[in-house]
Amino acid sequence: MSLHLVPRVLICPALCLGLWLGAPDGAQALQLPKPADLQAQARLQAKEVTVIEPHLSRPGQEQRRSYRAYPAPALLDGLLGPAWRASPEAEIEFRALDGFVSRIPVARLLQYPAFLAFARADGQAFQVDNHGQNERQVPLGPYYLIWDNITVPQLRADGGAQWPYQVAQIHLRPYSQAALLPAGMAPRWSEQARAVQTYCLSCHQINGYGGDKMPLNLALRAREIEAGQWQRWLLNPAAVKPGTTMPPLPPGLPQTQREALAAQLRDYLLALPLIEPKPGSTGAQP
Ligand code: HEC
Repeated sequence: MSLHLVPRVLICPALCLGLWLGAPDGAQALQLPKPADLQAQARLQAKEVTVIEPHLSRPGQEQRRSYRAYPAPALLDGLLGPAWRASPEAEIEFRALDGFVSRIPVARLLQYPAFLAFARADGQAFQVDNHGQNERQVPLGPYYLIWDNITVPQLRADGGAQWPYQVAQIHLRPYSQAALLPAGMAPRWSEQARAVQTYCLSCHQINGYGGDKMPLNLALRAREIEAGQWQRWLLNPAAVKPGTTMPPLPPGLPQTQREALAAQLRDYLLALPLIEPKPGSTGAQP
């Protein structure tokens, strides 16, 4: 059994066999083992990690939470082998059971301290109120990607955008240049492509690429919404549609920066070629 010869695969083959799922692009998504199995079998030390919880915090009112967690790089080494570190421009996709997808660049995971949490340190229910999405007592398990934003304050500005919860699968993916910066797009749009990836594509899509939580094609919808309405929606969706689960652009960023970001995202989406246009088919009305 060749897997036995690969010592870096700490957790496989005991747990992973039969858990590798076929994925459309031929690469493999890995169903994460249960926290109890990881603790019992992986040679990883869970530690207590205290963060400023972005889902609970509001500007000027920071709330701390402590979690039991594994350091993400060590866990990824165990699950994927150290090869995941080789291409900084590739991405790790964290996929939740409800179709929410968060793709985090490998470079970011190597640069900042990330952890996969599986419980609260105080033994309370593993859940959080998500103010940005107007949701209360949201279950976080099986895994929740958290960042040490106390020792690295610049992580706080992004809010909860790269803190996916209910993570059940991980998947090493190439950076999706083809969808986000297709041939003919000027390279100067790469910053906006990254921003749309960070803030929007966990729920939405661009020409078929992105999450399934609210799979509308932003490249199409941006063409249908007038500029002022677009700004109002991105800056404060709950003011346009009370109770919506769409989060605003990070409230922790300065307002001028949020406004500029909303406008740039629209310009970028309008500059994107529209693939497979389906006029009127998006359905979501705020
Ligand atoms: C956590 C999931 C989530 C994220 C992240 C998210 N949205 Fe949404 N979005 C939604 C949901 C849900 C709706 C549907 C609105 C509703 O019915 O509440 C929506 C609706 C929309 C609409 C349709 C509004 C209309 O008039 O029909 C647009 C446009 C949109 N989002 C753009 C964005 C952009 C741009 C970003 C990134 C800056 C983003 N969304 C990030 C969940 C999300």
